[in-house]
Parts: sequence; structure tokens; C-alpha cells
Amino acid sequence: MLLHIPNVLAPEEVAQIRQRLDAAAWTDGRETVGSQGAQVKHNEQLSDASPLKAALASVVLAALKRSPLFFSAALPLKYLPPRFNRYSGGGTYGFHVDGAVMSLANGEQLRSDISCTLFLSDPDEYDGGELIISDTYGEHEVKLPAGDLIVYPSSSLHKVNPVTRGARVASFFWVQSMIRDDVQRRLLWEMDTSIERLRQTDGDADAMLQLTGVYHNLLRRWSEV
Ligand code: NI
Repeated sequence: MLLHIPNVLAPEEVAQIRQRLDAAAWTDGRETVGSQGAQVKHNEQLSDASPLKAALASVVLAALKRSPLFFSAALPLKYLPPRFNRYSGGGTYGFHVDGAVMSLANGEQLRSDISCTLFLSDPDEYDGGELIISDTYGEHEVKLPAGDLIVYPSSSLHKVNPVTRGARVASFFWVQSMIRDDVQRRLLWEMDTSIERLRQTDGDADAMLQLTGVYHNLLRRWSEV
């Protein structure tokens, strides 16, 4: 499921993060990929050892926790802490699939179910830099306002088009979901959305109770918690 979640960060938060990132020391983005990715990845990242990266990652994680839509759609179990990247001067990342299993600092492993890109540059700041996600319905082009998030299945082929003017700054991270299967996760999200709509429109209370029970019982059957 491809989902656009607007305004994950408030404009003031984007401005504060950008101020710190625009003054940061960037390193070669190939630091964090395997050999297939290294051949097609041409961008810059904040080093994993950077204290600034850790500080800004906390800001992003706190923002995600405020978003009911993100929670409902992703049903997050674990996160790979957000990283930050920058594409400029023709920088690009050719088609690739994200690694399936990643190591966390505490020694645990994370299975990447959902890939996330949080845009930190507005579209008028740069040319190119579209995130292209390829799935069974074809190719989707994503270029969002600063502060907006796109979530998509980590199983998708995707790329970032060359940035031919300005700079595209973003945060990116992965989520292991309580629900491994993308179709099951989507069904739960659709049901949760419907229940919420019924609640807001004073729908029949007994039917809402029953549907809420079905939601939780499906979650109980399918979740890996
Ligand atoms: Ni990727």
C-alpha cells in the first residue's frame, strides 16, 4: 500500500531541522548499502555515528507517534532509526530493493516491511528528485511538500530521479510492522478507517462495537506481537 501522510512535521519543525541539516557535514551515502545498492546510489547522508543524526531521528520518531494515520496504516512494531540524506548536482539512486533484514544498535534484527520517506525540501527547491515506486499497478511518482511522509511496501522496486537543480533533503527509515503481510495490513487499515468514520458520524453503536471487536480479533490473529 502506498500512502501519503501529510503534515507529519509542522512547518516550524521542518525549518528547525533544515537549519541544522543545511549546516551539517554530509558523507557518501554508500556507507549504508550493500554491493548492489552501491553501484546505483549517488547521494550524501548524515553519518550513522553523527550525534546530529541521533538528535534529529528523535524528533522524527516523536512526530510519528503523534500521527494516528501513520499508526493505523503501519501498525509499527520496530523502527530502524531515521536517517537523513541529500541529493544535489545530479545525485540519484537507481532502481533497487531495500535490504530485507537490518541490524539495530541493540543487536536485534529488523525485518523491513514498510519503507518511509519524509520530505524535508519543498518541491520548488529542486528539479528532479522524484521518488519512483514500481508495483504491480505500474510506476508511481512521488514528490511531496516538506513535512509530508510517503509509506510503501519495502518489497517494491524504487528509485530517486537525478536532482538537476537545488537540493533534495529527506529523512528515510524502515518499519517492521506487527502485520507482516501488506494485504492484511491494508484490510485492517481500511476497517479502522471505516470504524472511525462511523464514530464521527454517530453510526449505530452496536454495529460499531461489533466491528471494533472484529478489528481487534483480526489483529490478534494476524499480529506477530
Ligand atoms: Ni531504497
